[in-house]
Amino acid sequence: MAGCIAGGVRQVVVLGAGLDTFSLRNPFADLGVQVFEVDYAATQSWKRERIKGAGLVEPQSLIFAPTDFETESLSESLSRVGFKLNQPAFFQWLGVVPYLTNAAVSSTLKFISEIPQAVVVFDYAEPFQNYPAERRANVITVAERAAARGEPWLSLFDPPKLRVLLRCEGFETIEDLGLLEITERLYGDLQRNITVGPGPHIVRASVAR
Ligand SMILES: C[S@@+](CC[C@H](N)C(=O)[O-])C[C@H]1O[C@@H](n2cnc3c(N)ncnc32)[C@H](O)[C@@H]1O
Repeated sequence: MAGCIAGGVRQVVVLGAGLDTFSLRNPFADLGVQVFEVDYAATQSWKRERIKGAGLVEPQSLIFAPTDFETESLSESLSRVGFKLNQPAFFQWLGVVPYLTNAAVSSTLKFISEIPQAVVVFDYAEPFQNYPAERRANVITVAERAAARGEPWLSLFDPPKLRVLLRCEGFETIEDLGLLEITERLYGDLQRNITVGPGPHIVRASVAR
C-alpha cells in the first residue's frame, strides 16, 4: 500500500473490512488518503457502535460504503459515497474471498480491474484435494467448523486457475505467494514450526492502465 500511496494513489478500499482498524490508524490521512470500508450494512453499524463504545472518533478520512458483494454493485455503492471511479485506488481484501461465491469473487475482481492503476491484495486458500492426506483432515475440520458457524467456505482456488481468472478479469501483474514464500517473508523465526505445502496464499495483482 505504501508504494501505491508514494506513487500518488489517494483512495484505499478495504473490502470486507469487518473490524479491521487500518482506517482508524490511517498514517496517510494528512496526504488526503481516503479509506473506503465495504461490508454488510449491519456489520458496519455494529462496528460503528463498537468504535463509539471504545471512546474513539471516526476520522474524516473514513467513509463507509455498505455493500453485499453477492447482490449489490460495488461501482454504485462506492461512487454513491464519493469514490472516484476514474482515479487510481488500492484495494485490500483480506479474509473474505473464501466466504464469497465464485460469481461474487469474479465480479469484484472485474470491478477492481476497471479502476485505473488498480492494485489489489487478497488471500485465498486451495481446494482440500490439494492438501497432503496428513493435513487434509485438519483443514476439513476447520472448514466444517466455519460452516457450522454459518460461514461456509464457498470459493477455493487452484493457483493456476486463479491466475487464469485474474488474467481474464484484466490483471497484468500477478504475484502469488504460497505458504513457503509467506513464511519466508513474514514469519521470521516462527517459520521453524510451520509445515509448508499447499494452503493459504496472498496475492498482489495490478492493472497497467
Ligand atoms: C473473516 S472477516 C475479515 C475481516 C477483515 N478483512 C480482517 O482481515 O480482519 C470477513 C468479512 O467479510 C465480510 N463479508 C463476507 N461476505 C460478505 C458479503 N457478501 N458482502 C459484504 N461483506 C461480506 C464479513 O461481514 C466480514 O466482515
